[in-house]
Amino acid sequence: MCWVRFSGKLCKFCVLFYKLIHGILACILDGDYPFLREFIFLMNNGYSIGIVGATGAVGEELIRLLHERQFPIRELTLLASSRSKGKTITYGDHSWLVDEARPEALDNLDIALFSTSSLITKELAPEAARRGCVVVDNSSAFRMDSEVPLVIPEINSAAAADHKGLIANPNCSTIVALMALYPLHREFGLKRFIASTYQAVSGTGAAAIDELDNQVKALVNNQPLDIEVYPHQIAFNLLPHVDVFLENGYTKEEMKMQNEGRKIMSLPDVKVSCTCVRVPVYRAHSISIQAEFEKPVNVDLAKIAIDNFSGIELCDDPENLQYPMPIDFSGKENCGVGRIRKDTALDNGLSLWACGDQLWKGAALNAIQIAELLHTRGWLGVQWPDF
Ligand SMILES: NC(=O)c1ccc[n+]([C@@H]2O[C@H](COP(=O)([O-])OP(=O)(O)OC[C@H]3O[C@@H](n4cnc5c(N)ncnc54)[C@H](OP(=O)(O)O)[C@@H]3O)[C@@H](O)[C@H]2O)c1
Repeated sequence: MCWVRFSGKLCKFCVLFYKLIHGILACILDGDYPFLREFIFLMNNGYSIGIVGATGAVGEELIRLLHERQFPIRELTLLASSRSKGKTITYGDHSWLVDEARPEALDNLDIALFSTSSLITKELAPEAARRGCVVVDNSSAFRMDSEVPLVIPEINSAAAADHKGLIANPNCSTIVALMALYPLHREFGLKRFIASTYQAVSGTGAAAIDELDNQVKALVNNQPLDIEVYPHQIAFNLLPHVDVFLENGYTKEEMKMQNEGRKIMSLPDVKVSCTCVRVPVYRAHSISIQAEFEKPVNVDLAKIAIDNFSGIELCDDPENLQYPMPIDFSGKENCGVGRIRKDTALDNGLSLWACGDQLWKGAALNAIQIAELLHTRGWLGVQWPDF
């Protein structure tokens, strides 16, 4: 996409012109006038963007994707804990100093992309929204709040229009599963599904990537293991345990698949049973899904529905050993779907396999796609530039 930008400082004529019409616009701009917002955006020379959690695994990808996708940025503010204050982050030709995430650091932002813990988000995101910016949050802090839209742009972009300063990014495994299931739901009507996830360690954050790395090196060198991030060794092992256990025996991560899935697809009665497993894979989550539908299913129609849906690609040619694998979907915007077959245990059932980069579509990319929606549809609050 080509963004229109003003390349340097505003010329004197522009400033005078702006001041002349500023008052007129201020009087009339209380309705939905996207073209006027676009005009103000041009005068403003792009958005002031903040990343809270910029030093983390998702934060790093947010910086990369904002630049790769040429999001129109006037100013980028990188925030993290006090431990990171003063660190320098470099991407391409640009370098930024990291500041401590405090309420005052959130002044003058148009969009704040949050990628930190739920606890910190609960404290700082309302502060950011109160200061007039729109927050897009990667944590689970506000996902099930009825006032907060939970958005996958390919599925329910319209929900973002109703934001009140805060939009939530769904859980990473839920995004990958729904990207595969939603086109099938439109074709056959989703009734219920069973999902088993194979979740990469980068889903736990930067420290978990180091833990897998260090454990693999220690094991091949016959050295003692450090076990800090996970309760057990993760190298050459599987942990059927992601997030905390709940009273019903499921984990919190497993229940997100049902709770968030219902909200995003507007299917309040859809039933989901999920088992989440952490695997010694660095990046990209994989999910095995068995889904039951209202209508009789047809594998060819299912493949066409997947193939025609934006954001996923069909990778389903078992004869030639082609199926989605995390290694092929790391650093890729699209999720992959394959192994589509009629399920032998369910009525009107399909069995399938999906992979997706949880740091991208499961987090940073989805958040930036939401920010792009806010920009292109004129769903941001109007920010008046200071002169
Ligand atoms: N990783 C994924 O694939 C993924 C996918 C979807 C959603 N998410 C969610 O995204 C969020 C971030 O995940 P992550 O994997 O990027 O975690 P991470 O690698 O552990 O990064 C956490 C970030 O939060 C910052 N932080 C910690 N304490 C803070 C404080 N007191 N004030 C301000 N910032 C603080 C850290 O800064 P310091 O470096 O200074 O400690 C770091 O920048 C989490 O809520 C996670 O559940 C992650």
